[in-house]
Amino acid sequence: MADFRHIPLLTTTLLLLAAATTTTACPPSDRAALMAFKSALHEPHIGIFKSWTGPDCCHKWYGISCDPKTNRVADINLRGESEDPIFQKAGRTGYMTGTISPAICGLNRLSSLTISDWKGISGEIPKCVATMLPSLRVLDLVGNRLGGELPADIGRLHRLTVLNVADNRIAGRIPRSLTNLSGLMHLDLRNNRFTGSIPTDFGRLGMLSRALLSRNFLTGSIPDSVSRIYRLADLDLSLNRLSGGIPPLLGRMAVLATLNLDGNRFTGGIPADLFSSSVTNLNLSRNALDGKLPEFGPRSYFTVLDLSRNRLTGGIPASITSASYVGHLDLSYNHLCGKIPAGSPFDHLDAASFEFNDCLCGSPLKRPCLTKQ
Ligand SMILES: *[C@@H]1O[C@H](CO)[C@@H](O)[C@H](O)[C@H]1NC(C)=O
Ligand SMILES: *[C@@H]1O[C@H](CO)[C@@H](O)[C@H](O)[C@H]1NC(C)=O
Repeated sequence: MADFRHIPLLTTTLLLLAAATTTTACPPSDRAALMAFKSALHEPHIGIFKSWTGPDCCHKWYGISCDPKTNRVADINLRGESEDPIFQKAGRTGYMTGTISPAICGLNRLSSLTISDWKGISGEIPKCVATMLPSLRVLDLVGNRLGGELPADIGRLHRLTVLNVADNRIAGRIPRSLTNLSGLMHLDLRNNRFTGSIPTDFGRLGMLSRALLSRNFLTGSIPDSVSRIYRLADLDLSLNRLSGGIPPLLGRMAVLATLNLDGNRFTGGIPADLFSSSVTNLNLSRNALDGKLPEFGPRSYFTVLDLSRNRLTGGIPASITSASYVGHLDLSYNHLCGKIPAGSPFDHLDAASFEFNDCLCGSPLKRPCLTKQ
């Protein structure tokens, strides 16, 4: 006679086993999202999607990693310029066309989305990224051909630390909501088609250490609030259409080391504090800055000091000899006049640093100073 007493136990065991095996594979919905994502892309040379077969998208799918506890897809990491053996075998960098399917928004536990340097991916950043991927920490889409605008509510990605969409064709304004990204550390919008002004409350991005906005069509002035970003080390606003004066408070920032404002329409004088600040890499070339050069001091330490192609007048202050270090100096194409001071921090400079001014004279220029100046 059959013993039926153990049937409930057996059923429970089977159910538990079934549950255990399904949680070690990625959920079918994550797999389906990835398959839809893949089908909107075309990668002809390397074969990065060849491994995207089988039921478990967490198991050896190229560029995919999952949370080990939940088996949900956590990272998509597809880089077109990579040292990975499959690139070495193909002997070339990646190229991919197609678009980023909104299907990725089904991967609602996604923590990083990197689809970089594929050169040919076009279309827009799916709007749903901002609303449906609340765990996103890294959004890196550099080096494609993405157009459209940044999602207006990007500011809802409150965990975001890296936003890199450089080298694309993204247009429109910097979304107002962006300044709500209070954990953002790295912002790279370089080489796109952004227009409009830098949000006035940019300074709310309190964790920012790099703000790279160069090569866009930004207008308006630098918001004063930028100087409140304590950790900001690298501010690159070069090659835009920015105007107004350089906020003096930029010279009081704690760790600002690189300040590139070249190729804009800035006017007014160079704030004196910039010459005794933490900034070591200062490019103000190709603006409409006027007035005299600020005084140098022992705190002046520049690996790069490029003030060329402005409207600076007066002489080169004798105090330049008290600077700790001036590596690359370019004062060419201004209206400077008088004797070039002789001294150690810039002994190594050649004439090109001083050419095309009104009446600079003395070494290293060939033009001697005729009268005592
Ligand atoms: C920024 O966040 C606050 C609080 O969540 C919200 O009220 C505000 O509308 C957001 N600003 C923008 C421009 O989205
Ligand atoms: C400074 O900016 C100008 C204009 O964008 C550029 O041509 C120049 O190479 C830069 N200077 C240095 C030293 O990088």
